[in-house]
Amino acid sequence: MARIIDGKALAATTRARVAEEAAAFTREHGRAPGLEVVLVGEDPASVVYTRNKEKAAAEVGIRGALHRLPASASQRELLEFVARLNADDAVDGILVQLPLPKGLDADAILDAIDPAKDVDGFHPLNAGLLAVGRGGLVPCTPKGCLALLDHDLATEGEPLDLAGKHAVVIGRSNIVGKPMAQLLLARNATVTIAHSRTRDLPALCREADILVAAVGRARMVRGGWLKAGAIVLDVGINRDADGKLCGDVDTTEALSHAAAVTPVPGGVGPMTIAMLLSNTLLAARARLAASAAP
Ligand code: GUN
Repeated sequence: MARIIDGKALAATTRARVAEEAAAFTREHGRAPGLEVVLVGEDPASVVYTRNKEKAAAEVGIRGALHRLPASASQRELLEFVARLNADDAVDGILVQLPLPKGLDADAILDAIDPAKDVDGFHPLNAGLLAVGRGGLVPCTPKGCLALLDHDLATEGEPLDLAGKHAVVIGRSNIVGKPMAQLLLARNATVTIAHSRTRDLPALCREADILVAAVGRARMVRGGWLKAGAIVLDVGINRDADGKLCGDVDTTEALSHAAAVTPVPGGVGPMTIAMLLSNTLLAARARLAASAAP
């Protein structure tokens, strides 16, 4: 029987560490790190996600607010809003929740966010830095996945050795799939990105030592798709036909094939928010260091 990787527990530890570091930052610099979350429209899932982000930030001593704009907001209004946050020196992190309502150009909005405040890591500059292995702000969900691997599976004090392991990432989004692949590659894994046009996905998955599922299809990955002893990270948050929350992986089946599996809920999800808080602190420190540089 596989182990269940406890994302809730690691997220709680991470949030406690960020809270201590945010308090130290506030003492040293006379202001708290700041995160501003922008939600345009009323997408029900986004309303829940952004409220959770706002609440989690407040709990660790990160200042800021959730800004709600109507779905009718124009591209220009949103760009002006982002420009105001860019210009505000007390703001360290800006997050515009995706997807945006129809008619708004998400790429242009993401391009407009100051890369130094881009705590989502979605700006092309940060995506490029990740691709060439030169740091920058890294997207929260893949960063959380890697933290789960390291925490759960590393031997005492040593980072997990992923060298030569075959990692299969299902999904090629800019939010999860592509940055996840880059992070695994940077750790010397052999990485395959699978997507909707991939042929014989079950056979490919059966070769994976590490499988990351980020497709958004309820319980698509079956137990029989898994190599014995695989590590499975389930990024999906779906509702099944009965309205029950579930991931992209059939967790019950996976538990009898894999070595370790993240549950949904309580796996990758809580880590995404913890990494957002951590990125906000990193951005705050980096901005101060940059402003102090001669
Ligand atoms: N929509 C789904 N996930 C995310 C995320 O991590 N950040 C933003 N901004 N929007 C999202």
